[in-house]
Amino acid sequence: MNLSFAQAAVVPVSAGTALQALSDIGRVQAGQSVLVHGASGGVGTYAVQLAKAFGAEVTGVCSTAKLDLVTSLGADHVIDHSHEDFADGTRRYDLILDIGGRPSVRRLRRALEPRGTVVFVGGENGGSLTGMGRQLRGALLSLFLRQRLALFMAKERATDLERLTELIEAGKVIPSMDRSYPLDEAPNAMRLLERDQVRGKVAITV
Ligand SMILES: NC(=O)c1ccc[n+]([C@@H]2O[C@H](COP(=O)([O-])OP(=O)(O)OC[C@H]3O[C@@H](n4cnc5c(N)ncnc54)[C@H](OP(=O)(O)O)[C@@H]3O)[C@@H](O)[C@H]2O)c1
Repeated sequence: MNLSFAQAAVVPVSAGTALQALSDIGRVQAGQSVLVHGASGGVGTYAVQLAKAFGAEVTGVCSTAKLDLVTSLGADHVIDHSHEDFADGTRRYDLILDIGGRPSVRRLRRALEPRGTVVFVGGENGGSLTGMGRQLRGALLSLFLRQRLALFMAKERATDLERLTELIEAGKVIPSMDRSYPLDEAPNAMRLLERDQVRGKVAITV
């Protein structure tokens, strides 16, 4: 399949990241329970929809203002991180995508099934020598556990774009666009992103 420019434009890196985290690394299966931690952002909004398209039961963690967005994406359950704790022991998940919020490895493990998988997607915003201290600790610990805690770096692949285009054309995945900004307002858009005030993605028009 040849992708048009327009098709490629609506399938950004975030979508490929969510796809690879779920399928290549997370090896998601229909019927599994999946927790998307950071469900309302660029990667998370794709992850929720893709996990549903793969037949998983999906729980999204986000802020109060974005509960409606994550529900509208098809999440079966939503957890408001300002009032509830996904790791309170009431529920365990087969697969956790750690995209936003930087929960500790201990809390992630507490919410994970004994043979479950955590995929570390999100960065750490600095704060340590490598900027990946939590992920590296998790991956090292994983060598001694039945639980799998996996590092992950997305690649750009044409086959992913084709798969995502099919899902978008079938209406199973809809890019979640907050709003678009002209190029000269790009700094404002970046500030909103930094403050977690964006629902899904923003576009810059040139
Ligand atoms: N590994 C890779 O190859 C790869 C590829 C692409 C991106 N990334 C990384 O993935 C991360 C996410 O990217 P993105 O584009 O999705 O960013 P984003 O659009 O800024 O979304 C991040 C989300 O994190 C959520 N968040 C903040 N605090 C939280 C908390 N305590 N609990 C749960 N969620 C919380 C925010 O949602 P609320 O406002 O709802 O809290 C926000 O929407 C970034 O660190 C990025 O660098 C990694």
